Parts: sequence; C-alpha cells; structure tokens
Amino acid sequence: KFTPRVFSGIQPSGNLHLGNYLGALKRFVDMQGPEKETVYCMVDLHAITVWQEPKELAHSTRELCAGFIAAGIDPEQSILFNQSQVPEHTQLAWIFNCVARMGWMQRMTQWKDKAGKNQQNASLGLLAYPSLMAADILVYHATHVPVGDDQKQHLELTRDIAIKFNNDFGVDFFPITEPVIEGAATRVMSLRDGSKKMSKSDPSDMSRINMTDDADTIAKKIRKAKTDPDALPSEVDGLSERPEARNLVNIYAALSNQTTDEVLAEVGGKQFGEFKPMLADLAVAKLSPISTEMARLMGEEAEIDRILAKGADKARAIAAPILRQTYEIVGM
Ligand code: ADP
Ligand code: NA
Repeated sequence: KFTPRVFSGIQPSGNLHLGNYLGALKRFVDMQGPEKETVYCMVDLHAITVWQEPKELAHSTRELCAGFIAAGIDPEQSILFNQSQVPEHTQLAWIFNCVARMGWMQRMTQWKDKAGKNQQNASLGLLAYPSLMAADILVYHATHVPVGDDQKQHLELTRDIAIKFNNDFGVDFFPITEPVIEGAATRVMSLRDGSKKMSKSDPSDMSRINMTDDADTIAKKIRKAKTDPDALPSEVDGLSERPEARNLVNIYAALSNQTTDEVLAEVGGKQFGEFKPMLADLAVAKLSPISTEMARLMGEEAEIDRILAKGADKARAIAAPILRQTYEIVGM
C-alpha cells in the first residue's frame, strides 16, 4: 500500500562527528538512488530541546547542510531541508502528543539520560521529543528510516504511535516504519572510553573525530585512542571482551566498506602500533575530501539557504496533503 520512502534526520547541534557519518550520513548516501525517494532533514526543532545559542544554531544548521552535500547527498536527487521550515512536522506532532501516552515518553532511555536527575527542570520538549520524531517520519509516510543503534527505541515508539493512531480512528493510514540499522558502525564508541558512544555532547574533544578535523588532528586522535596491549585477533569473537579494540576495527570496516571479519582476516596478528596508522590513513583519505568540500560550501551561505528553501518546498508538497488527510480523520 505504501510506496518505499526513506526519511532520516540529524540535529544541527554542532560537532558533527564520525559516529554521525558512519551510523547515519554515509548510509543516507548509500540509500540514495533513482528508484526510491529519499528525504533528509536537519532537525533544528529537536536541537532546541536543550539550550542552543541562536547564532550557533543558525551556523550549525548551514554547516550540517554543507556536511550532507559534501558527504554525497545530491539535493536534486534527495529532498534536503530544515525541519522548522516545514510547519507540518509540528502540526502532526501535536496530534501525536494526544495519541501517545505520558508513560511511553517517560520510559525512553534518551529522556532519562538527557534529563538526568532533575527531570522537573528539563524542557517539556525534551520529554515530547519522540512524538515530534514520529511526526517527522510519518508526515512523509516514510517506510524506511536509516539510523544509528541509539535511535532504535524511538523508532519502536514511532511504530507504536502509528499503530495506536490507526486503531483509535479505525484506519490504515500511517505505515509501520522499518528501522534500518545495519553495517559495522551502528554504534561508534568514544575513543577515550569504549563503554560510551561517540557523541556531540562529550566534553572531551579527543573522544570523537569531528567532520571538520584536519588530517593532523584525525591522526593524533587515533594515535591517542585508548586500546589494549594485545595483538588483533583474526576473528570477531576475539574482540568480545575488548570494546576499544572492537570499536577501532569496526570503524576501519565501515570506512572501507567491509565486514569486521573481512578486516580481521587482513589485520589479525598486528599490534595497534601498526594498525592505528593504517586506520588514520584510511580515515584521512575518506574524511578530508568531505571536510574540504564542507569548508568550501560554508563560503557560499546564500547557495546553502537557496538549497534549503527549495528542499522545504518539495517536502511540503508531500507533507501538506498527508497532514490535511490526518486532520480529516481526526474530525478537524
Ligand atoms: P548525536 O547523537 O550525536 O547528538 P543525533 O541525535 O543528531 O546526533 O543523531 C544523528 C544520527 O547519528 C542518528 O541516526 C544517530 O543514531 C546517529 N548517531 C549518533 N551518534 C552515533 C554513534 N556514536 N554511532 C553511530 N551512529 C550515531
Ligand atoms: Na542521537
């Protein structure tokens, strides 16, 4: 009933990093193709669920757009736009706020992590975040959503919202979306601590490789990455108790489009003293062209704004009729 359509988003909250690239952006590019519609969004409305300096938000939104294009998203082939320019997202989110239950939101691990101990002082938007995310996806009737592993729970909630809406109103209107979480790097870990995911908000810049890092910085961060004294195993089972080692091998695999086992078949037996420079060379070879192109695009703000405005028009052409039908179903 539903034609295949891919949707995903990234928050313009600064520090776009290797985890975002391997877990999300690179896979957005892989899914782009003439046979399916791909819709990609900078989700600024999600970013402001925690405080953002207005000037930095505007800068980060353009920088993220430059990152999408530099990584290989073609604004002619994909719909590329900024969330707040398509009001249908928030309009549908309100309907979903009335479909979803408080308890569903309060169970989310991201809410618990980000709100911390003082939940009473977290923004209401931070609690409602997954409801807006469901609207982002379902306002396009998207069927497939490529994301990193950390978004799995939110996508389950998106399915729950679609199912409850369809049941409540006795319709088969919203698709039950498939998460697409695959590849060697669905969860890239911090370079300083193998138990934490690489994240924009980690206070240690050495914990992540930023998409804007230069070659020397990338090499230095990999050289200093936490590892263990053992040689690399020749099979993935040998990494099960070695999170830092596994993380570096997974990064290598994702950057070189191989499986982790294929990489280990090649590098098994090597020490990190030998493997780290190989990884650094590979990372620089793959990331430098992207950061160079991002910097060039950032010199053309007007062009970026034009691309985003055009993308928003194309997005609204899909979202507006779906919102209108939703209102009719609800009786509005
Ligand atoms: P962040 O979590 O860095 O603040 P977002 O929430 O905007 O970034 O996530 C954008 C996309 O990047 C999502 O699909 C998310 O799952 C993915 N992602 C974020 N961090 C990682 C990571 N460390 N490894 C793999 N994917 C990640
Ligand atoms: Na995230």
